[in-house]
Amino acid sequence: MNGRELVRAVKDVGSARGLRAWRAALRHDRADAAQLPARGQERARVPGALTGAEPRPAGGVLRFARSELRVLVAVGGAVFWGWDGAGPTPSYALAGGEPEPDPRAVLEPDTDGGWRVVSERATVVVSRTGTVEVRTPGGTVLRRDLPPRWWEPGAVDGSPGAVEGRPGVVEGSRRVVDGSPVGAPGARGALGGAHEGARWLQRSEVAADARFFGLGGRAAGPRLRDGRYRLWNTDPKGGFGPDDDPLYITMPVQLVVADAGTHLVFHDNTWDGRVTLREGEEGAGSGQDRPGTSELRMDGGPLRTWVLVGTPARVLQGWAALTGAPAVPPSWALGHQHARWGFGSAAEVRRVVAGYRDRGLPLSAVHLDIDHYDRHRVFTVDREAFPDLAGLATELRGQGVRLVSIVDPAVRAAEDEPLYREGRAAGAFVRDARGREVRGEVWPGECVYPDFTDPAAREWWSGLYAERLAQGFSGVWHDMNEPVSFRPYGDMTLPRSARHALEGAGGDHRQAHNVYALGMARAGYEGLVRLRPHERPFLFSRSGWAGMQRYGGTWSGDVESSWPGLRASLALVLGLGLCGVPYSGPDVGGFGGSPSPELFLRWFQLGAYLPLFRTHAAIWAGRREPWEFGPEVLEHARAALAERERLLPYFMTLAQLARRTGAPYVRPLWWSAPEDRALRDCEDAFLLGDALLVAPVLEPGADRRAVRLPRGRWYDTATGTPYEGPGQVLLDAPPGRIPVLARAGAVLPVAGADGLELEVWAPALGRTGGGLLVRDAGDGFEVPEVERFTARWRAGEVVVTRDAALGGGGTSGSGEGPEPGLPVRVRGA
Ligand code: GLC
Repeated sequence: MNGRELVRAVKDVGSARGLRAWRAALRHDRADAAQLPARGQERARVPGALTGAEPRPAGGVLRFARSELRVLVAVGGAVFWGWDGAGPTPSYALAGGEPEPDPRAVLEPDTDGGWRVVSERATVVVSRTGTVEVRTPGGTVLRRDLPPRWWEPGAVDGSPGAVEGRPGVVEGSRRVVDGSPVGAPGARGALGGAHEGARWLQRSEVAADARFFGLGGRAAGPRLRDGRYRLWNTDPKGGFGPDDDPLYITMPVQLVVADAGTHLVFHDNTWDGRVTLREGEEGAGSGQDRPGTSELRMDGGPLRTWVLVGTPARVLQGWAALTGAPAVPPSWALGHQHARWGFGSAAEVRRVVAGYRDRGLPLSAVHLDIDHYDRHRVFTVDREAFPDLAGLATELRGQGVRLVSIVDPAVRAAEDEPLYREGRAAGAFVRDARGREVRGEVWPGECVYPDFTDPAAREWWSGLYAERLAQGFSGVWHDMNEPVSFRPYGDMTLPRSARHALEGAGGDHRQAHNVYALGMARAGYEGLVRLRPHERPFLFSRSGWAGMQRYGGTWSGDVESSWPGLRASLALVLGLGLCGVPYSGPDVGGFGGSPSPELFLRWFQLGAYLPLFRTHAAIWAGRREPWEFGPEVLEHARAALAERERLLPYFMTLAQLARRTGAPYVRPLWWSAPEDRALRDCEDAFLLGDALLVAPVLEPGADRRAVRLPRGRWYDTATGTPYEGPGQVLLDAPPGRIPVLARAGAVLPVAGADGLELEVWAPALGRTGGGLLVRDAGDGFEVPEVERFTARWRAGEVVVTRDAALGGGGTSGSGEGPEPGLPVRVRGA
């Protein structure tokens, strides 16, 4: 127990909830002690020497003395390899089942007795001892995975399979016999190959100049500095800052950016693990480069790796092809949303909505938290506080404001609870190895947990959203789904011994934990589509895993109300975007505290440029309505809201493009120039699509800030002043705005006074520019066309034409496209 936990434990013990949480924790610990296999002696294993190779479609199988390696290149260029015969499926991350092999990729002998698989985007070279290298087509090594090492349960000496007389080494308290053969590789488990009980270690090297990003949502990012990052979805409880790790969404996904190229590496394994990263050093020591290293230790599950190589845009496109296209939020979910834990009544909701309306501030949705439930029970309504919720929803809808509902997974375990009885009858709840329900402590008291890794439980749960729709809700907000069980010490989740269906394969919480929320998102998404087939669901979830973008987005969770919290909230959005989850945003103002007017305003100004733009706060926290911070903040917040409204067509375009290309709306500055090292280290600004560079103010007292520019010309959108990148400029950041720059040549769709128009930023002389538009086609599943526009200088003027190939319509005689058909506003000329 650390100091913080101790304080929490002492505080909790005084309350009924605290006592129950203590009891649950002790119960969980007892269950783990009794039901988890004890970690006794372990036997270590490495692959040993290469003994043979067998070509297979799009790759082959390489046999080693004590393992075998399957290498496969999928259509689209993603490279896969799995040890001990692990294949790509089954997988919680992959969207389309078994990936299609690329028939052009072939296994061929390499020098020194190794083998290689050559494909269009990458070459995989396997050495005689099991080192796996990924090289660019030009031969540069992007990543070198050293031979892996497993630790399997079992006695070292005298057990079948151990080799007598071989030298052993002692590693820590474990005896390691490097040469011990294993009979056949372990039994194949349903979710991912062999050795579910074996721990393993994979060491990898990358270029000395490489930078690491990703691993899900990390408060300390976006650049992941030297340190250890756990892969275990965690509620940090009570708010988090940049030093808290892990958080709600962890993913074994790294994006590695180096001069030699960018690659994404994914270890498709849901178990608990730790990644230790160390950036390399050029000219270290004797003048030799020291490579960057990543060391991945997993507690079980298959050792299987995907690598995608290319530009950042190509890599993310490949990732979306593999794990699924990001869901497009309905257009209203791109507007400003207001939440609070503790509105407490319909009257208070009306008061807040009227506050926005009376001041002429746009508002697209209000989110109701657990206080609108009857005694915190999911899928219920407190009838005293909200006597006619459906009526309230209709009334607000008439004013253009939607209602969004929180949905917590835990169900109060009591005989008088209809949902509990229903779920129990459906066999939907998580049980222990002895068949008893696993109970934990959450907001409604003692609870049980639907097993979202069970298709039947998902099916049952997905029908429950009918109740939310009947109450008039337009979207859902999944919370507490790491999943949380309050406890005064240790991991606030279910016991690791809890049993899960795991799609029929069976397993325990060690394997199911990280995909619990992913399964809940799937149930919610599929339920909503079934119940309301003509509307795209609006769903965002606190926890999740690789592939969660198929069902919706996420938000920061309980980020602390502080300047470091503000910075952390940007790190999360950027990092998640690079893991394929493009729609997210923070609790504007932070979750738990009372931000100063200045902090609130700077947060609001940042939020206006992030996909999910939502103010939210805890029940004990200060207000978050923009008018609660004085007239000056109100006027500046009004300007930020107006700019958000103006940019909505651009946001909709970015959402649609994310679905088609996997590119996040919010991108690091190095997105189109990964070779620019200064950009790789720049963490305080971002690109919003191709057109805009946003430089939020992340420090108190600033009225100007340094902004690093990628190459090319950039206009300060407030003054129209052009700047030439690469380089750094000092820009004004008065309380009324944060610096936003537009790329020369950018064409972006915006909402003008008379509807949709194109804002065009003059290309540099002699150059052309362009941009895309995907029109809002309503909130259904229609796939609107992508329109492309080109901007160029002609006779001393900037003209914009529609690109015929994508936009339809004829071409003009000059070879240029026709008029854009939309009002055009040229700036910077
Ligand atoms: C969790 C959520 C927070 C919510 C609260 C009450 O702390 O992260 O957003 O307000 O629970 O439901």
